[in-house]
Amino acid sequence: MRDPESAWREALYGPEGFFTRGALPADHFRTAPLVGPELAEALLVLLDRVDFALGRPARLDFVDVGAGGGELSAAVRSLAAGSLARRLRVTAVELGPARRVDGVTWTRSLPERVEGLLVGHEWLDAIPCPIVTGPSDDPWLARWWPLPAGATAEVGAPRDAAWADAVSRVRGAALAVDYGHVRADRAAGRYPEGTFAAYRDGRRVEPVFDGSCDLTAHVALDACAEAAGGDWVLVSQRDALAALGLVGEIDPARWLDTAERASRVAELRAVGGLGGFGWLLHGVGVRTSDLLPPLPPWRP
Ligand SMILES: C[S@@+](CC[C@H](N)C(=O)[O-])C[C@H]1O[C@@H](n2cnc3c(N)ncnc32)[C@H](O)[C@@H]1O
Repeated sequence: MRDPESAWREALYGPEGFFTRGALPADHFRTAPLVGPELAEALLVLLDRVDFALGRPARLDFVDVGAGGGELSAAVRSLAAGSLARRLRVTAVELGPARRVDGVTWTRSLPERVEGLLVGHEWLDAIPCPIVTGPSDDPWLARWWPLPAGATAEVGAPRDAAWADAVSRVRGAALAVDYGHVRADRAAGRYPEGTFAAYRDGRRVEPVFDGSCDLTAHVALDACAEAAGGDWVLVSQRDALAALGLVGEIDPARWLDTAERASRVAELRAVGGLGGFGWLLHGVGVRTSDLLPPLPPWRP
């Protein structure tokens, strides 16, 4: 019998895999880029800060790793304006089928060098990893998820390695946005059965490894942060979006438009929902303090 990590990888990325066959995230779960253009707006504010800190280079990258249907890349491309838009190069990195999106280059592998902003939006949770039931002498678990006998955990080492590799290619900033957990909660036994889960058609289902459903697990973003190193902050999406100007006020003179927008912003910032996602932001050649103000640490 195959180990769980290999079975998970085959089920998502093998010849008949869920993502290989072109399953669109939009058909199975709701991610922030699908809510509306507001996430892209906030990321363009962040990109502008990165651009300024880099001295407005002749070419500026926005790289969307694990781009899915390309909704985020498309929104960033179409909402960018002025000098930034003229210098902007948008790249969608995706193992599944390439989509046709105007002004966006599709590739299966990360660019060697990125000058600008690299974003992994719900990318790391889609990276398969070992699933272990304690007791275990795995060194990653010993450091990040002390595992009592009988408890189950995902070993985040493959996500750490992927994130460290991505950040190493960047001059500017790298941002991972995902659901996840931190060591204090893992060590306190908050996830005794781990977080491995399957979704199909918008519903949580019993995991099967036949390519018919998405397989995922929460991301140990604190471990990813340490693996990539350097200058980083780990904050909540709720706080980060507000710091980038996304608060969703209602203007009575334009009630309908602004109320709809406010409800999308509220969804992106919802406590217990998308607002509870972690934003792990690394600055490379740029200080994170030039990109975001001081914010409370993420507490998922
Ligand atoms: C959960 S989906 C997220 C899609 C999109 N970013 C969103 O938030 O709507 C994860 C995506 O990451 C892609 N993926 C996973 N590992 C990858 C890799 N190493 N390179 C490129 N794409 C990858 C999968 O094929 C899948 O489309």
